[in-house]
Amino acid sequence: MIEEMIEKAFGALKYSYSPYSNFKVAAALLTEGGKIYTGCNIENAAYSPTNCAERTAVFKAVSEGERRFLAICIVNEDAEGNHDYCPPCGVCRQVLMEFADAEKLQVILAKNGKEYKVYTLAELLPLGFGPENL
Ligand code: THU
Repeated sequence: MIEEMIEKAFGALKYSYSPYSNFKVAAALLTEGGKIYTGCNIENAAYSPTNCAERTAVFKAVSEGERRFLAICIVNEDAEGNHDYCPPCGVCRQVLMEFADAEKLQVILAKNGKEYKVYTLAELLPLGFGPENL
């Protein structure tokens, strides 16, 4: 499953709309039911409306009725065509927190099909605030 997610994430890099940073990001999000939704970063001339790849994937999935996620794979490509590990920004970590068990959600950072690191959301967002805190 990890290999499939990495492949799908790399496949979504071509849709990245990133003319300002020239930094492409894509994500593949796995639902509890086994479906994979992809997303890319979508930049904006006013800069702050930019949406990260992870949130694009989450919002696509939630807007189609999905609410629980098991894993997300994140990949990137810089202006020179290099791929490096790309950790999710704080806002995306918080958005993921809403729809997952932080101890279980796997965040897969991939450089390529063979080199990847896996973290839980709880590791990346310790003591995160979620629906259960309300
Ligand atoms: N970006 C993402 O898509 N995800 C992240 O987790 C980090 C940053 C995007 C936003 C912007 O389009 C570009 O990367 C440079 O910050």
